[in-house]
Amino acid sequence: MKRLLIIGCGGVASVAIHKCCQNSNVFEEICIASRTRSKCDALRDRLKGTTKTRITTAQVDANDTRALIALIEHEQPQVVLNLALPYQDLTIMDACLACRVHYIDTANYEPENTAKFEYRWQWAYRERFEAAGITALLGSGFDPGVTSVFSAYALKHHFDEINTIDILDCNAGDHGYPFATNFNPEINIREVSAKGSYWQDGHWVETEPMEIKRVYDFPEIGPRNMYLLHHEEIESLALNIPGIQRIRFFMTFGQSYLTHLKCLENVGMTSIKPVMYEGRPIVPLQFLKAVLPDPSSLGPRTKGKTNIGCIFQGKKNGKSKSYYLYNVCDHEACYREVGSQAVAYTTGVPAMIGATMVMTGKWLKPGVHNIEEFDPDPFMDALNQFGLPWQESFTPVLVE
Ligand SMILES: NC(=O)c1ccc[n+]([C@@H]2O[C@H](COP(=O)([O-])OP(=O)(O)OC[C@H]3O[C@@H](n4cnc5c(N)ncnc54)[C@H](OP(=O)(O)O)[C@@H]3O)[C@@H](O)[C@H]2O)c1
Repeated sequence: MKRLLIIGCGGVASVAIHKCCQNSNVFEEICIASRTRSKCDALRDRLKGTTKTRITTAQVDANDTRALIALIEHEQPQVVLNLALPYQDLTIMDACLACRVHYIDTANYEPENTAKFEYRWQWAYRERFEAAGITALLGSGFDPGVTSVFSAYALKHHFDEINTIDILDCNAGDHGYPFATNFNPEINIREVSAKGSYWQDGHWVETEPMEIKRVYDFPEIGPRNMYLLHHEEIESLALNIPGIQRIRFFMTFGQSYLTHLKCLENVGMTSIKPVMYEGRPIVPLQFLKAVLPDPSSLGPRTKGKTNIGCIFQGKKNGKSKSYYLYNVCDHEACYREVGSQAVAYTTGVPAMIGATMVMTGKWLKPGVHNIEEFDPDPFMDALNQFGLPWQESFTPVLVE
């Protein structure tokens, strides 16, 4: 029996699980295990009668490696798909190593008390995964994930050498709230309030948060303001795309979001340093998360589209060339299909596809690997098949 263990049952996991259930030939059995078991049970009950995939559920604290090992030994999966939070990446990798089971995630490790994400903690597992004969596939969401596969595809089919990559992430969805985040608010706010950075000629260039702004006219959406952020796929693409000179990541934000974020920062609500409140320590950002709308409640209210993709510049047969690969996703269509908005959809679908690649043996390579290190072709085909069709342009407008 082919069996997948999914850790976490939030917005992204809900989409990935719906999609596994549409692909029952690969996912004959799945176990959903998370901190709050009732959420896993509710999702299993919603899917009952709609799929051939057999679903079981379990409770687990993914910060506890021993509990994870006991769960894996009981469930006997071929692959563990980590859709909990970046804080749990290492404990889950430890448990996979102990049980010799393949590992997949969508976000790189970040210590809970330092808002700094980077790959070095997970790359330190390379030799141990290799010796155990198991594969760790890192970053199988949209960005990182699809943007990294787009880069591997562009290099394989369209360039002899890629010199620059601009990753553009536009969410033009409107949920009607003055301020809400489209995925876990704590992780989202840590990411966007950090300093920006980009890769240039072999080193990082750091910027102040939101210091670099551009306007881009996105296909099927129109002109939007976008801001340069640090983003994790830059770190691995800088190593894995030979000849690369510059990689930048831009994300769009509306004025209401930015004004609220600035105000929350100014009053200390985005801080991750504990403060004493009524005799006990609380983390302001965690308190803020508790009062903000739950991202999984945004689905029925969000209208509009996302457009996420990469613009490449480089050389083919000695000639300069530019190429734009992107996906447009409609929030309301996602909600109709799986009951979630497009930000969860665009992450959950590639998580399921990454799990398919490993489960079916198409992408097995002992060690710890970023997603662009594998053959992009079967993943690109699966994007078209499972709801994230991609489009291309050979004459894109470039970002200045
Ligand atoms: N690559 C990409 O494109 C991309 C885009 C968006 C998000 N992401 C990543 O996707 C992941 C999931 O995001 P999300 O928006 O789905 O978050 P979410 O809605 O907050 O879901 C997180 C889930 O993990 C569970 N969890 C948290 N701590 C746990 C623990 N110690 N033990 C067991 N379960 C635990 C939560 O349990 P409770 O239900 O009890 O809270 C919840 O079910 C994050 O790592 C995020 O960074 C990646």
